[in-house]
Amino acid sequence: MLDAWFPQPDTFEEVSDGRFAPARPRPHEHRPEVLHTIAIARRNLLAVFDIHDYTLRSSALRLLGRQLVVINTPEDIKTIFASRHQTYERKSPQMRRALEMLLGDGLFISDGSTWASRRPLVADIVHKNRVPTFAVAMEDVAAEFAERWVARGPDRPFDALSDMAELTAEIIARAVFGNRLGKEAAREVIEGFGDYQAQVDSFNMGYFIGFNEGLPTWRGRRLRRGVKRVHTVIEKVVTDHIAGHGDHHSMLDLLVQRQARSPDLGLDVTALRNEAATIFMAGYETTAATLTWAWYLLAKAPWVEERLHAELDAVVGDRTPSHADVPNLPWCRCIIEETLRLYPPVPFLARQAAKDDTLHEIAIEKGALVLIVPWLLHRTESLWPDAHAFKPERFLDERPQPYSYIPFSAGPRICAGLNFGLTEAILCLAVLANRVRVRLVPGTEVLPTCRLTLRPQNGMPVTAEARRK
Ligand code: HEM
Repeated sequence: MLDAWFPQPDTFEEVSDGRFAPARPRPHEHRPEVLHTIAIARRNLLAVFDIHDYTLRSSALRLLGRQLVVINTPEDIKTIFASRHQTYERKSPQMRRALEMLLGDGLFISDGSTWASRRPLVADIVHKNRVPTFAVAMEDVAAEFAERWVARGPDRPFDALSDMAELTAEIIARAVFGNRLGKEAAREVIEGFGDYQAQVDSFNMGYFIGFNEGLPTWRGRRLRRGVKRVHTVIEKVVTDHIAGHGDHHSMLDLLVQRQARSPDLGLDVTALRNEAATIFMAGYETTAATLTWAWYLLAKAPWVEERLHAELDAVVGDRTPSHADVPNLPWCRCIIEETLRLYPPVPFLARQAAKDDTLHEIAIEKGALVLIVPWLLHRTESLWPDAHAFKPERFLDERPQPYSYIPFSAGPRICAGLNFGLTEAILCLAVLANRVRVRLVPGTEVLPTCRLTLRPQNGMPVTAEARRK
């Protein structure tokens, strides 16, 4: 019965005003039994929802003895992420176990005093005031890719997802490690991360059968090899930076300088490696997914693409867009914001309750898995009229209701790289769309799927045709 309740491939059903709407969920014919749900969730977490879940309400259920609380109202999200942050600051055991081998005590999965002391440090290093410095890498790398796409010609299909991952990995590698990392070392890190993510089990059955901290992830050969590739390269760059041979103004350089100024921060080689790996990991796949989904939506919505090209022609013309153009490209920004609404790269935000708590009539147990699901929230009709439709104009003059739009999460654990990521997505879209028009390979069926991030299940086969000489 999979087809009856699996989210549909994005067929862009035509609706009356001639516009299109992606991925309308269908009702489940019946709720599958627990073990079947688990099997499906391991493949694609999005598949467990049916149309009735896209509703403004919070609810609790039990999975193999573990309490699961799904929060889907802005008011309750504010409670979890902001007002009672300390009760819910801890990431789920699934997330911690899945990433601990790679990131150690890096910011993304740490909590308590480690998180509290590192957060201001990392936030400062990727702060919006520094984005103009890093934007040079964004402009350069995006322009290189635009050349590559034009040179490839309109008849040679390629996978937009892997190209976008390469593009954003190159940008974040230059920002974190500096320009001197070298192609080979960059490739080692990127492939090591890829290997790791392909192998890691992000479900952790141990947690559901009673282990509050989950069980350690199975460390197979490929997983260990992925970790080793990443750690070896990063540790070398860290020791080079400590010895004064690093690239000035790289994020690592800033971390090393901070440690030199305040030794009680305790950032040894391992801690520096963990934070550098965290920023790298947090900073490339999310933006790559955003750009990939943006190409998909634009290819399906020519009226949006036309307006994008008109904006670029008026503001930028023949030159390459730069960071200074970003404030003058509101339509580019709206396209990215609407893409992040429909396809939030982190579609599940999972926390573990630190103590018993009560939320309205729900008694939340200590150790419960609390799920906030941007995928559901962003497609809840009472918050977002015409919720499944691609309408960038909804972001043009109005800001969403607080806690109804959370692609970067919210509260004290909000994405530290929000400004970096948003600027990067807008700028890369502008640079590439100014040169090419992206088309989906005919007959392509795109199915959104979620493991750690939300991505098209079988990639995104596209072609790119030049817009200008
Ligand atoms: C469109 C791009 C991006 C999106 C949608 C995004 C989304 C998110 C989300 C949802 C979280 C919270 C995850 C959770 O609570 O489980 C997060 C955390 C984080 N992100 Fe991003 N991110 C993006 C880009 C970036 C970039 C470019 C960087 C770094 C340059 C970055 C660095 C971080 C860090 C360090 C954290 C951990 C913050 C903490 O726990 O205190 N992100 N991001």
